[in-house]
Amino acid sequence: MSVSRRPVIAIDGPAGAGKSTVARIVADRLQLLYIDSGAMYRALTWKAILKEVSPDDQEGLERLAEDTKIQLINDPEADNRVFCDHQDVTSEIRGPEVSKQVSQVAKVPGVRKQMLRLQRGLGLQGGIVMDGRDIGSEVFPDADFKFFLTASPDKRVERRQLEQIEKGFQYNLEELKREMLERDQTDMQREMGPLVKVPDAIEIDTTDMTLDQVVRRVLEIVNGGEK
Ligand code: CDP
Repeated sequence: MSVSRRPVIAIDGPAGAGKSTVARIVADRLQLLYIDSGAMYRALTWKAILKEVSPDDQEGLERLAEDTKIQLINDPEADNRVFCDHQDVTSEIRGPEVSKQVSQVAKVPGVRKQMLRLQRGLGLQGGIVMDGRDIGSEVFPDADFKFFLTASPDKRVERRQLEQIEKGFQYNLEELKREMLERDQTDMQREMGPLVKVPDAIEIDTTDMTLDQVVRRVLEIVNGGEK
């Protein structure tokens, strides 16, 4: 590794570009901690649905964010677990209801400020791979490595559909496409922390790449050209 301190690696991009799978494997290979920032927004959205706080109620959502304890637990044997107020919500937060509302919750400035604080705290010591939308731009603008993963909309929808089937959710392809593309629009257009490729991020178009190829590309860059 070319950096002496344990690195911070930021991986941003739209839904279904492969960020979380790549981030998890890269973190594992480099023995860094993987942090899924989207899971935090999803956990809060899950609670907002439970507590019937409307996605339009900005103050209510801000209060909810202040009163909610979100924890990500790294599990080397399985997928990382996500806890909301000590309840394991790992599976629940991936469902269609949360996916439909999460961008509305994530665009609330008071919610983002709260998450930013949490995420920066988790990366204070370095040694992390964090994926999301605003990691290279807002959360860790000084990250050692910044990647921006993209793929064609059709490919992204196709990947997400496979993932949903594996997780046991029933999804209509058209509905899934609409939800993902609407979410991208909301994420790109919000005022605070929009989805954007910062100039110092390395863009990787994963449309025609295998997972293994993407991981290898990221590792080559992080390891300074060696494998
Ligand atoms: O897995 P997928 O890429 O579909 O989404 P995710 O990473 O689980 O993030 C879900 C949603 O959370 C995104 O569509 C954004 O609205 C929001 N998010 C965000 O605003 N900022 C982040 N750093 C991460 C996620």
